[in-house]
Amino acid sequence: MKQKFAVIGHPIGHSLSPDMHNASFKELGIDGSYQKIEIKEEELGEFMKKAKNEFSGLNVTIPHKVAVMDYLDGLDKSAKAAGAVNTVHFSKSGAIGYNTDGMGAIDALEKAFKSKKILHGGSGESAKCKKFLHGVEDAAGGTIKGKNFLHGGEDAAGGTIKGKKILLIGAGGAAKGIASEAIMRGALLTICNRTKEKAEKLARDVGKAGVVAFDEKAVTRAVKDSDIVINATSMGMEPRTDKTPLTKEQMRPGLTVMDIVYNPLKTQLLKEAEGAGAIIISGVDMFVFQGAEAEKIWLGVEPPVETMRKTVMEILND
Ligand code: ATR
Repeated sequence: MKQKFAVIGHPIGHSLSPDMHNASFKELGIDGSYQKIEIKEEELGEFMKKAKNEFSGLNVTIPHKVAVMDYLDGLDKSAKAAGAVNTVHFSKSGAIGYNTDGMGAIDALEKAFKSKKILHGGSGESAKCKKFLHGVEDAAGGTIKGKNFLHGGEDAAGGTIKGKKILLIGAGGAAKGIASEAIMRGALLTICNRTKEKAEKLARDVGKAGVVAFDEKAVTRAVKDSDIVINATSMGMEPRTDKTPLTKEQMRPGLTVMDIVYNPLKTQLLKEAEGAGAIIISGVDMFVFQGAEAEKIWLGVEPPVETMRKTVMEILND
């Protein structure tokens, strides 16, 4: 029987999840289909009630990552730690929520560190780095092909975020997943969010994070004191591509800047960061890795990560 999957959100028009997962299913020889479905806040409950009879699994995106938990039968520890769900599996034991966002983001960071030797003071301008950023070729060692990398278990010499200072911008569903994974892997975290109370709550939830105000002065200071900045807000996403949480003047060479937004591939934030000489990581890697983890949960298979990445890159480069 054909297995059905979907991503739900609002807006959902620009999601590349269907292309990525359908390409993967094809390569894996799985009789499955994956679609995108526009669901507004007020429609979520009704949709989730019916979904278990129709779908094998779902991805959940803005603005439902927290709200969807009300409609699930259980939460995996990844979702509990993040306080948010991006993947639902309709299993024999009911609708179970997972969060693969955090692992995807941190894997992308650590992979970049490893391939670009950021932690050893290497430059982001090498040919290898450019290939990585454009997602065309695998980074040194081909580690993303292996299980170990996808589980974030084994990292080569030094290429981890342990002890690194991360400034996380945002405190929504995506930020929660990243915050808990970053803390779990030993990073020193500071959170900044437009609504400060949400940043404070997230800092309390993950245990040991600082909070800074979302104003230019405070943010500039916090960026200065950080090794890595991650934008986990929707700023810069299509169609409002001119938005950026930071400008060129606030960044510097040697800083690593990652955006979870992957559409457009090079967001205004990444353009500004590049202009400042910072090392940039696009949201594509996080996106591919979170998708790969979701397929493992739904199907119990090892997803063809390179095919997934290639599919996404082809569309984005069009
Ligand atoms: P997600 O689940 O993808 O994280 P979300 O829970 O709706 O989505 O969170 C969106 C995040 O982007 C929040 O941190 C939000 O800030 P608020 O908590 O103040 O709402 C942030 N965000 C969205 N638009 C923004 C904007 N124009 N300026 C600053 N922050 C913004």
